[in-house]
Amino acid sequence: MLPIIDIPTIQYVVQEAVDSGIEDILIISGKGKRAIEDHFDRNVELESRLEEKEDLMWFNEMRRLADMANVHFVRQKEANGLGDAIYYARHHVGNEPFAVLLGDTIMDSVIPVTQQLMDTYEQYGGSVIAVEEVDPNKVNRYGIVGGNVLSDTIMELNTLVEKPAIDVAPSNLAIAGRYILTPEIFNTIEQTPKGKNNEIQLTDSMLLLLKRENIYAHRIEGKRHDIGDKLDYLKTTVEFALKRKEFAEPFRKFLIDILNR
Ligand code: G1P
Repeated sequence: MLPIIDIPTIQYVVQEAVDSGIEDILIISGKGKRAIEDHFDRNVELESRLEEKEDLMWFNEMRRLADMANVHFVRQKEANGLGDAIYYARHHVGNEPFAVLLGDTIMDSVIPVTQQLMDTYEQYGGSVIAVEEVDPNKVNRYGIVGGNVLSDTIMELNTLVEKPAIDVAPSNLAIAGRYILTPEIFNTIEQTPKGKNNEIQLTDSMLLLLKRENIYAHRIEGKRHDIGDKLDYLKTTVEFALKRKEFAEPFRKFLIDILNR
């Protein structure tokens, strides 16, 4: 629920899914995350108060949000890792490919990144993972992929490692928090032992999946903002504020002013 200016991070993530043509969304949350459910629910009391005050902009925004998509919720009982969290979606997903969007990552791109992955899925048919190049010194913070380059943006994978040391990393292409997965992933999650941080890692389940199906990496066209990283969170707020019409000018002046002090 951390806002970037006045919009909670989760709303950007849901918006990316909706902009990619997804109409059915399952949010996997955990303890103490009730505010997320309330955010996507209709709040009749607040709506009528806004209507009375003729605050139509906010009224319309609230309505739009509630109508954006069918948003469902399920709670992960224990923090057992990303693989375990995804496993909670198995009944909801059934036997179809599905997109995974990590809630602490906002993408800034012309074509929504999830849409980019869906297009690659259409073309190649297997699971698709969004990746981006990172500084080689930072590979131990991410899932890292390796494989054969098929084009400027696509790689066919032959390995994936969760948070490897720099000397064993297969590349500096990091998993960027967006995936299209085939339902076979639920079977491989079941067979995945606990990995890094004693958690069930989705990366390890995808390595098992790779023995059964092709997996592709898609280098994202756009910018990833890691809201879980405090410095990146600050940078994102500043960048987004400079893009907002009502803040751009006064905020730019303010920044120049404090930098000159
Ligand atoms: C998770 C994934 C990792 C990926 C990262 C992207 O890690 O396990 O493979 O690179 O998200 O943000 P986490 O950030 O939860 O440690």
